[in-house]
Amino acid sequence: MAELNNPNLSFTDHEQALAQAEKSIRDLAYKRNNRWYPLFHIASKGGWINDPNGLCQYNGTWHVFYQLHPYSVQWGPMHWGHVSSKDLIHWNREAVALAPSLEGERNGVFSGSAVVGDDKQLYFYYTGHVMINNLNGDDGIREVQMLAQAGDSNVHHLEKLGMILDSPDDLISNDIRDPKVWKHDNTWLMIIGAQSAQHRGQILLFSSQNMREWKFEYVLFEHPDPNVFMLECPDFFPLKDSQGEEHWVICFSAMGSKPQGFMNRNVNNAGYMIGSWEYGQRFEPHTEFRLLDCGHNYYAPQTFLSEDNRRMMYGWMSPFIQPIPSDQDGWSGCLTLPREVYIGEDADIHTVPARELVNLRSSTQELGTVALPINSSQELFEDAVAAELHVRFNIAQSTAERIGLKLQLSDDGSYTYVAYDAQMQRIVIDKRDAVQGDKGYRSAPLSDDEIKSGFIDLQIFIDRGSIEVYVNNGRQVLSSFTYPGEGKRHIVAVAESGTAVLENITLHTLNSIGLA
Ligand code: FRU
Repeated sequence: MAELNNPNLSFTDHEQALAQAEKSIRDLAYKRNNRWYPLFHIASKGGWINDPNGLCQYNGTWHVFYQLHPYSVQWGPMHWGHVSSKDLIHWNREAVALAPSLEGERNGVFSGSAVVGDDKQLYFYYTGHVMINNLNGDDGIREVQMLAQAGDSNVHHLEKLGMILDSPDDLISNDIRDPKVWKHDNTWLMIIGAQSAQHRGQILLFSSQNMREWKFEYVLFEHPDPNVFMLECPDFFPLKDSQGEEHWVICFSAMGSKPQGFMNRNVNNAGYMIGSWEYGQRFEPHTEFRLLDCGHNYYAPQTFLSEDNRRMMYGWMSPFIQPIPSDQDGWSGCLTLPREVYIGEDADIHTVPARELVNLRSSTQELGTVALPINSSQELFEDAVAAELHVRFNIAQSTAERIGLKLQLSDDGSYTYVAYDAQMQRIVIDKRDAVQGDKGYRSAPLSDDEIKSGFIDLQIFIDRGSIEVYVNNGRQVLSSFTYPGEGKRHIVAVAESGTAVLENITLHTLNSIGLA
């Protein structure tokens, strides 16, 4: 690797850089327009955010950090933003946690994860990003792995401990980032996403006895698709199935995969494979690559274990397509809701909203059953700004080609359509009639068993600018920005080319998580 300055030297004062970042966020937030600003999703007060980072529950408190650009509504030199919560429902804004201040992270403190050491201290592994000659490209960057430590038990500030892993250029190209660390028996293990010298997406395994000195072990996984040149945000964990048998799940955000039918429709796509693994061997996938979320806006998920041992996950709701409507409003990007990850009886991954989220509900309206005649529609609710909608489509008793819900239907005719498409046998989010943002649809598959059951259960979280659709208890999820029009946000049920029966229709109004 070309000799750069010592990565541990500081080029600016960290505290001062953090204070400047805070000021810029305040300035952006001052001008913020709230029409789409989330009431119950985590976002920055102002500026751009991407990946969730450093997720943990430590001394009883939940901590969520995220990639943050405090100086504009577009991606730029990365910082870490920080929010915390005692109950996963009410959140507090904490001070910006990390800003670039060392030579090895001159152009960004990139993504990383949190882990509790044997000394019970909380450590953060992250990537330092440097642009060589001001270039961001294959030969223009250097990425090294850095360590930081929580400065107190309440995690109010992080202390930087410097570089722990230089860029090992004999193994790979310069893309090597997003470390995730865990303890395996008596050894600390770290996976990092990388691009190989042959431009293949890989996940590399490193080991350490003391959390500071790391040694390269081997390539844990190489993506079988030669188009995939980089695997970002790798994650790797054991998960028991409904019979109690343990499997290993590998998650990553793949760059370079090409759209194929319904698959990989987004610019980059995040998903998982289930398989087996023993330390010393490569991960052996037993499934193909599957998406963790089939919506328009999902990337860079990270999981962690709660103190009661649930596998929790946050993802980034990624505004991939420019121009991004919320840019006009002074903010860009938010995280998904926290999800619990488990293997269902179908032997596949399910992700459901964290159980704590029922505590967000305030009032509840129940409509029971609505039966729609051929080619008809009916308003279900007059206005839903921040809400959780439950609906069961009785597909056995419906003849419609599509049973749909117009969500956030506004007076200018703009809406986002969530539907069961009987021809495709898929759940669809169609944004064709949304006035703002990109158009197009995304869809999630249903299995033959789900179709045969005769019912499809939807749980839909409607926030001011986005929706998350959970299908059949998290069997599939779709997350999309929607950017509704002005005025009331109606919910209307639709039967296209046939009849439709909708049951158990319930709307919970949701409270704010306190970050707005
Ligand atoms: C994924 C990613 C990571 C990187 C971070 C930079 O969205 O590109 O690989 O660490 O974002 O913001």
